[in-house]
Amino acid sequence: MPTNIPNLVTATRAAAILHGGGVVAVPTETVYGLAADACNPDAVKRVFAIKQRPALDPLIVHITGVEALDGVAADAPPAARQLAATYWPGPLTLVLPKQPCIPDLVTSSLPTVAVRAPAHPVMRTILAQTRCPLAAPSANRFSEVSPTTANHVYASLGSAPDGIVDGGTCPIGLESTIVGFWDECIWLLRPGAISISDIQHTTGCRVYPYSKQHAEDIRAPGTMPRHYAPKTPLFLGQIPSNAPQDRVAHMYFGPQPTPDKPAYAGINLSAQGDLAEAARNLYDTLRSLDTCQADCIVVDPIPATGIGAAINDRLRRAAQFETEKHT
Ligand code: TXA
Ligand code: MG
Repeated sequence: MPTNIPNLVTATRAAAILHGGGVVAVPTETVYGLAADACNPDAVKRVFAIKQRPALDPLIVHITGVEALDGVAADAPPAARQLAATYWPGPLTLVLPKQPCIPDLVTSSLPTVAVRAPAHPVMRTILAQTRCPLAAPSANRFSEVSPTTANHVYASLGSAPDGIVDGGTCPIGLESTIVGFWDECIWLLRPGAISISDIQHTTGCRVYPYSKQHAEDIRAPGTMPRHYAPKTPLFLGQIPSNAPQDRVAHMYFGPQPTPDKPAYAGINLSAQGDLAEAARNLYDTLRSLDTCQADCIVVDPIPATGIGAAINDRLRRAAQFETEKHT
């Protein structure tokens, strides 16, 4: 339960605030978002300011469902429509040519817009009552770990948003899968709960992981190597010998043997080895281990199947900087 969040509001109040040009943190099935009316540039400007997000990193636009797609995006290819029909409402974002009603500020002047229909019932109520598309990045400060509870949002943003809606713990816990459509191919820009094989199975098309060709590549502006990062150095599998390691915090996955001596700190993402449970617990665990004064956090290997690919993607980004420093 939220502890002492002074700017907590109901879904109905949130819709009224958003309708009036305000900014509200809202629950989705993936992570909490920081929402504003996507067609109101002043409101969207405040989202960038509160997050301290660079203007060149565009926002996802949230809609009620497939019926609202053509209002924000143009020329959706058949594969995009097929994916929307199959996975919406749900954790899948489609990057498509934008309609002129979406301000350049939302898309960082790209000709495309990222769009998804979220499944969380509270967010769906807010979207239905607001009756406009909502631009919403994750409700954390830029480069921090994404929030999966109302308490996480308040810890990151405090009273800067006009309201925070508590929808409980996000059931998926990782940001949506993002796909783009160009050069007659489907490109995976960010892995999430909908996997490459899900998309291939639905469309019958091969999906290619998109890797930035060069720094100025504008097709995937958000693929910063270090993102989703705790402040404590994080290592995957093994701690390099030259890293401080008196107090090691462990992030376990799966059944563990009884240790010879108690660890300094340890949290199991899923004692049963369930990847969906591990995804749901990942960001809360990162936040907890990051506040226990450990020298470093070391993470058990996680299978790369299904949502495991997305967990590994976030962990690799969180570990990137430290790995470079110590190798
Ligand atoms: O699950 C989610 O997607 C959550 C919830 C709140 O919906 N949102 C989220 O937003 O993760 P954010 O802003 O943290 O991540 C959005 C990503 C960024 O990497 C951004 O660069 C990318 O989407 N993006 C947005 N518009 C784009 C576009 N037109 N082309 C390519 N990438 C785009
Ligand atoms: Mg984010």
